[in-house]
Amino acid sequence: MTTSRGRIPLLDLKAQYNGIKLEIDAAIAGVLESGQFVLGSEVVNFEQEFATYCETTECIALNSGTSALHLALLAAGVGRGDEVITVPFTFVASVAAITYVGAKPVLVDIDPSSFTIDPGAIERAITARTRAILPVHLYGQPADMDPILEVARRHGLVVIEDAAQAHGAKYKGCRVGGIGDLACFSFYPGKNLGAYGEAGAVTTSNAEFATTVRMLRNWGQDYKYHHVLRGFNYRMESFQAAILRVKLRHLEQWTETRRALAAKYNDLMADSGIERPREMSWARHVYHVYTLRCRDRDGLQAALQAEGIHTGIHYPLPVHLQPAYADLGYGLGAFPQAEAAADEVLSLPLYPELSPEDVAEVAAAVKKATLHKVRTVVRPRIGD
Ligand SMILES: Cc1ncc(COP(=O)(O)O)c(C=O)c1O
Repeated sequence: MTTSRGRIPLLDLKAQYNGIKLEIDAAIAGVLESGQFVLGSEVVNFEQEFATYCETTECIALNSGTSALHLALLAAGVGRGDEVITVPFTFVASVAAITYVGAKPVLVDIDPSSFTIDPGAIERAITARTRAILPVHLYGQPADMDPILEVARRHGLVVIEDAAQAHGAKYKGCRVGGIGDLACFSFYPGKNLGAYGEAGAVTTSNAEFATTVRMLRNWGQDYKYHHVLRGFNYRMESFQAAILRVKLRHLEQWTETRRALAAKYNDLMADSGIERPREMSWARHVYHVYTLRCRDRDGLQAALQAEGIHTGIHYPLPVHLQPAYADLGYGLGAFPQAEAAADEVLSLPLYPELSPEDVAEVAAAVKKATLHKVRTVVRPRIGD
C-alpha cells in the first residue's frame, strides 16, 4: 500500500494474504477439522506436489531451511573432520549448518555479476578432506551449476544446493532443487514460497538420501519408537503444509509478476548509471530480492527512506567477517568480491502485489538520489 510520497514496504505479506484469503482460511479450517497437526496427509500431499514442481522424485518436508541444510549434510555423510566448500556472501545458515555436523566450512569468493559462487575458484579449495560443495542460489538466481557439477564429479564430491531463495528458478531450463544431489529450501514467510511460520524441505532424486533425511527428521525412527539413527524433531506442521499447498498453486503466476516488475525496474533505471541485477545467460531468475549495487549505498538507502521507501541489505557483513565465525581464520581482504558486494548492495521493494506505479515511484526516487549525487560531485569541479 502506498500513496505518492507515501510508504512502500520492502515486502507486504498482508497484501498477499488478502489476495488468497478464502483459500487459506479454508485450508486452515481443514487442518483444524482433521485433528492432525504434525506431518499427516497435508504434509504428504505437499511433499508430492513440491517434488513434482522441482522435477525430483522426493521431497521431505521439514520445520526450516536450516534443518534442511543440516539433514542434507548428514544424509550425504558429511561429518567431523570433513570440509564443505561454500561462499561467504550468503545468509549465515549456509555456513552454520556445515558446523552443525562438525565439518569445516571452506569459503570461496563469489562471481560479482551473479553474486553466486565463482566456479573457477572451487578447485583450488579442494583438499583430501573435501566432501561436498554447497552452492547458494542467492537472490533467486541459480549458481552456474555445470562447472560445479563437473568439478564435483571429478573429485567424487556431493553437491548440495542451497535453494532457500530460489523456488522455481531454472538453470538451463532445469528447476533448481533437482540439479545437485540434494537441495535445501526455506519456506520462511518472506520467501517466494512462504509458510505462515517456520518451514523448509529437502528435495532429491536419490532414494537412499531421501530415506535418511526422512528418518532423521523424525527422531531417526524406521517405525514407531524404534530408533535406528540419532535423529531430530524437524517435522513440518500440518498447518504449514496446507498453507504451502495453496500458495504453490499461485507460485508460477507470482514468479512471472516478480520477473515483470524486475524488468520494469531495469527499464526505468536503464539510464541511471546504477548497476542493476543481471540475469545470467543460464538463468531463470525468480527475483526473491531485486538488488542494486551502488558505491554510496548508505546514502541511497537514506535518500529512499526519506521518501518513505523501505529497502534491505542482503547482507551487510559476509560470514567470514562475522564475530561468530572469526575462528574460521579468514580476515578482511580474504574475499574481495564478497566484501565489495556487502558494502554496495541494496534491495528495493519487490513482491507480486507491488503495483507498477509503486515500481515507477521507487525507480524515480533512485534516479533522483543518484542524479543528486552526481550533481554534488560535479559542481565543485565546475567552480574550480
Ligand atoms: C540462503 C539461505 N540459506 C538458508 C536459509 C535458512 O532458512 P530458514 O530461515 O528457513 O532456516 C535462508 C533463510 O533465510 C537463506 O536465505
